[in-house]
Amino acid sequence: MLKKLSIAAIAALSLSAGGAIAAGGESHIHDVDFSFEGPFGKFDQMQLQRGLQVYTEVCSACHGMRYVPLRTLADDGGPALPEDQVRAYAAQFDIYDVEKDEDRPRTPADFFPEGGDPNAPDLSLMAKARAGFHGPEGTGLNQLFKGMGGPEYIVSILTGYTGEEKEEAGTTFYANTAFPGGWIAMAPPLYGEDVEFADGHSNDLHHEAEDTAAFLMWAAEPKMMARQKAGFVSVLMLTLLASLLYLTNKKLWAPIKGKKFDG
Ligand code: HEC
Repeated sequence: MLKKLSIAAIAALSLSAGGAIAAGGESHIHDVDFSFEGPFGKFDQMQLQRGLQVYTEVCSACHGMRYVPLRTLADDGGPALPEDQVRAYAAQFDIYDVEKDEDRPRTPADFFPEGGDPNAPDLSLMAKARAGFHGPEGTGLNQLFKGMGGPEYIVSILTGYTGEEKEEAGTTFYANTAFPGGWIAMAPPLYGEDVEFADGHSNDLHHEAEDTAAFLMWAAEPKMMARQKAGFVSVLMLTLLASLLYLTNKKLWAPIKGKKFDG
């Protein structure tokens, strides 16, 4: 029994090292080196702005981000848009005002709108929801060992279309190497050159996908940088405390320990 278990564990570990295997179907997630990974990682402000653009011009036709406050677009460490641009961005989207009983333009105090397609899941938390998605049985081992998580999953979905389609019960499914089960009901949203970036950055499929995934990671966890920094500082403090304790301990016991050797 024990032997069987350990074989299973070894198999699981080696699978996760070789590539992502999700429960159910095979799904291929490839690793991406994002600027925000690691203890010194930072969101890349320009990348977030480009991702916002892709999200707005392409994804938001179907997907919403109704848990993300529009005002956070101005946050330091985020896209850091100037206040007037955030106001202008928000004003593009109407919202029903209960008190006035009419639609009014959104303000930075409102949230991103809901998406247009009820079958398209809200993307506010998608990058976190799929964080530990891969690795055998969703154990998140790849995340632990390679820092692979939700953003990698999103990039892999966006770039994982094979071009094959099938029709089932009136719905078209598209073959996708990253989606568990292999068939997704989302038509390929990006082909490359779907948007024109103001900063002149490459708009091929992979760059667009990475920028969008980075933006969605920020949307899901805007305070990630602060959290990583706090974590790093606390590890530093703990290390310092441990060394001080060790030295104090040594000093306190020195006379007693010393005696033993004398005698
Ligand atoms: C034409 C509508 C449409 C557009 C545009 C669209 N999506 Fe989707 N998306 C969907 C639908 C529908 C689903 C649900 C698919 C399913 O469950 O099979 C989906 C699912 C997803 C998923 C979830 C996969 C999962 O694990 O459940 C992600 C991530 C995603 N879309 C990201 C994006 C991004 C990023 C963009 C913009 C680049 C985008 N989508 C554009 C309709 C769309």
